Amino acid sequence: MDIRIFNNTEEIAAAASEIIISKVKSCPDAILGLATGASPVATYKKLIAAYEAGVISFKDVKTFNLDEYCSIPATDKNSYYTFMHENLFNFIDVLEENVHVPNGNPENAEEYCAAYDESIKNAGGIDIQVLGIGRNGHIGFNEPSDAFTAGTYKVKLTESTIEANKIYFESENDVPREAITMGVQSITNAKEIILIAEGKAKAQAIHDMIKGEVSPSCPASILQKHNNVHIFIDKDAASLL
Ligand code: F6R
Repeated sequence: MDIRIFNNTEEIAAAASEIIISKVKSCPDAILGLATGASPVATYKKLIAAYEAGVISFKDVKTFNLDEYCSIPATDKNSYYTFMHENLFNFIDVLEENVHVPNGNPENAEEYCAAYDESIKNAGGIDIQVLGIGRNGHIGFNEPSDAFTAGTYKVKLTESTIEANKIYFESENDVPREAITMGVQSITNAKEIILIAEGKAKAQAIHDMIKGEVSPSCPASILQKHNNVHIFIDKDAASLL
């Protein structure tokens, strides 16, 4: 694991975006795996700046997002589809047809999820996967459990995740209870992974991911087994290492 501890968001975003920018430069049709949430926002801003400066183009890039809430439409202000457009896609030249955010309300979830994994595979697999980490060690919406998950699937969110997501919704009842998420196996199939985390609230998860045993009780701990992972964190998130 390439573990780097930075002073602030800006430094993390500079390091993370540098890896993505150099990949897109050398491989203009790169496949990017993307995450929502607070952690990658500053990195996405740097990608937008690089696009605006003419350093890179996303016109041949394909993107696959990790997850999407069920029970709200893609057009909802809290959907991950909306999040990605508001924080990245609307400001770069990626083609809408090359953007993939899971459909949170598929008719047949099982078939849809298998097809999502298949489309990642058919695109050639994810070159770089951007990840955040939940306070409970989740990646994507893979919550602590008894077994590592495989492909994309429909998941029931835990109370701690619902609690963490509450800030984005008007009332607790509006917070979706289920999501479509790439499974741990689909995530770790990526050729390279950048996990970003900041703040004391993530310190225990970061500790368990890096120093704990590889166990589905901390889904992110599987990254110990991946041979090309960057962990970019601030001092607070690193405080228990
Ligand atoms: C988002 C995702 C989640 C977040 C994690 C951290 O697509 O899959 O696993 O990465 O919950 O969220 P933030 O970055 O908001 O702390």
